[in-house]
Amino acid sequence: MSEFHDLAELALNREGQSWGNLGYWEASSDYSDACRALALKLGEQAGLDQQSNLFDAGFGCGDQLLLWFEHFRVVKLRGVNLSQSQTAYAKAKLAEAGFPEAAAGLVQADITETAAWQAALGGDSPSHVLALDCAYHFDSRVNFFNLAQHHLAPAGRLVLTDFMLADQHHRGSLAHWLLRWMLRSSHIAEANIVHRDGYEQQLEASGFSDIRIIDISDHVMPGLAGAIRAFRQAGTSAGSARKLGWSGLIKYRVTGRFLKWAYHRSILRYCLISATKPAGPLESIAPNPDY
Ligand SMILES: C[S@@+](CC[C@H](N)C(=O)[O-])C[C@H]1O[C@@H](n2cnc3c(N)ncnc32)[C@H](O)[C@@H]1O
Repeated sequence: MSEFHDLAELALNREGQSWGNLGYWEASSDYSDACRALALKLGEQAGLDQQSNLFDAGFGCGDQLLLWFEHFRVVKLRGVNLSQSQTAYAKAKLAEAGFPEAAAGLVQADITETAAWQAALGGDSPSHVLALDCAYHFDSRVNFFNLAQHHLAPAGRLVLTDFMLADQHHRGSLAHWLLRWMLRSSHIAEANIVHRDGYEQQLEASGFSDIRIIDISDHVMPGLAGAIRAFRQAGTSAGSARKLGWSGLIKYRVTGRFLKWAYHRSILRYCLISATKPAGPLESIAPNPDY
């Protein structure tokens, strides 16, 4: 069965790398390096260290899992990914790199369902929940926030990168219709794309506090288009563009150009977000029996 999230991005990467995010292009012109740089930003914002007990939502083909282990030295790692092909790839990658136990803690499931968290965590409570460039794809990001809040240890942190509507952007405009079309073809629920104040309210309603939102659009959104152009020019002779196929190439060209347009027209912003679960019980928020 074909999947929306599959192994297609392998063709964009250098040999041995298998990233699949939008990249952080401040100091990189190579796709794999830019993707790693975005993951590093996330890990640094999360403050990962040797005490971190990490839960990774949407871990792609597993490169970021190796980064959490090898660069940040996290002590424990579990994760959930909707994609069967990517989960199998990530498990093999971790086992091959000498982390067979962590490979066993990776589960193929939908992160917005309670059973996915139980399957990966048992009764354990992670200190960090991370979502690198994927929460906008979840059917309901609000469900994800609720489940993260429920399963995190007290004082635990949720850290993610995500899209939100630019302050200047208005629903109902012509640009909004184009945005809606692009979201639909990219498997992104429209309800997930809200303005910054709406995003903060969603996190607060799920019980998070100490919310920080850092706009990193400048180094993310315009970068991919240039990289795809360079990739196409170099790749045709090198053979990697052929590996991606014409439909893959068109998909990434359209995505790159759309992001550049949405950035310059102030329609979307791309942000690094962190939020903390309070250390004590929250009296103002009624416990939700569904979680
Ligand atoms: C844009 S890719 C990012 C992959 C990876 N984080 C990276 O940076 O290379 C989005 C990821 O989210 C995963 N994903 C999408 N919807 C999901 C869901 N409902 N539950 C779990 N994972 C999901 C996809 O399978 C894919 O691995």
